[in-house]
Amino acid sequence: MDVLNLDDYDADKINEMLDKAQAFKDGKQVNYEGKKIIANLFFEPSTRTHYSFDMAGLKLGCKTQNFNAGDSSLKKGESLYDTVKTFEMFGVDAVVIRHKENEYYKQLVEKLNIPILNAGDGTGNHPSQSLLDLLTIRQEFGRFEGLKIVIVGDIKHSRVAHTNIQIMKRLGMKVYTSGPEEYKEEGYDYISLDDIIDKVDIVMLLRVQHERHTDQMELTKEEYNKNYGLNEKRVKKMKKEAIIMHPAPFNRNVEITDDVVECEKSRIFKQVENGVFVRMALINMVLGE
Ligand code: CP
Repeated sequence: MDVLNLDDYDADKINEMLDKAQAFKDGKQVNYEGKKIIANLFFEPSTRTHYSFDMAGLKLGCKTQNFNAGDSSLKKGESLYDTVKTFEMFGVDAVVIRHKENEYYKQLVEKLNIPILNAGDGTGNHPSQSLLDLLTIRQEFGRFEGLKIVIVGDIKHSRVAHTNIQIMKRLGMKVYTSGPEEYKEEGYDYISLDDIIDKVDIVMLLRVQHERHTDQMELTKEEYNKNYGLNEKRVKKMKKEAIIMHPAPFNRNVEITDDVVECEKSRIFKQVENGVFVRMALINMVLGE
């Protein structure tokens, strides 16, 4: 069993996964007693996803291998497939992969005999991030149906946005998108942040993904924040119970100001904490009991 995207996840399946993650948060124990080995193969930089998958594996009593792309035979031209197949032949029980190419996994799934957990493919999918976002939302509101969210920023380059928009709509949430012209994507309805901020339950900011841009951002940091970012002035307009989310890492004082990152409405570090439990649930699902 692989977890590549959430395309086939309906509301029941999502809630089942979140129940498993919540159970780990509430103290459920599973211990593979060192008999299972997970390889974390990150071909793109990562802090949260990489090391929370690692932490999740360790908490489940797995052993883990952490691939260092910059110091590997990729430097000699080795392909993605040959690298991943090598780890399978080492005897690992599952691979966690992040890669810059959208749907990189299509070249692997038929040829591997171990589960793949997708830790992010280009601008395509980030299923474990979406699940931890959904867990955070469910903990807060106890439901998805009828909730309103605005996802703000670099939608075009964001696998988090792409995965979340799709799954949140399927769960009955009303999803608004907002952000600068240069990061807009066809197929989504955009709205000014100031026109919607007082009506939504969740404001989800996105990182400006400079590494995926061909041109430098036209706006200065100050202009970006003034027009499209979150700051204390906008936070004051939010509904009383509304929360702030961001997948992180964040560009401080661009999409979110310093004083807002850890404000009372922010759930950003709670998202990080939930990431470990969601990834425990995913690893447990693919390895079995
Ligand atoms: N949210 C997220 O994917 O962060 P990392 O790039 O640090 O893994």
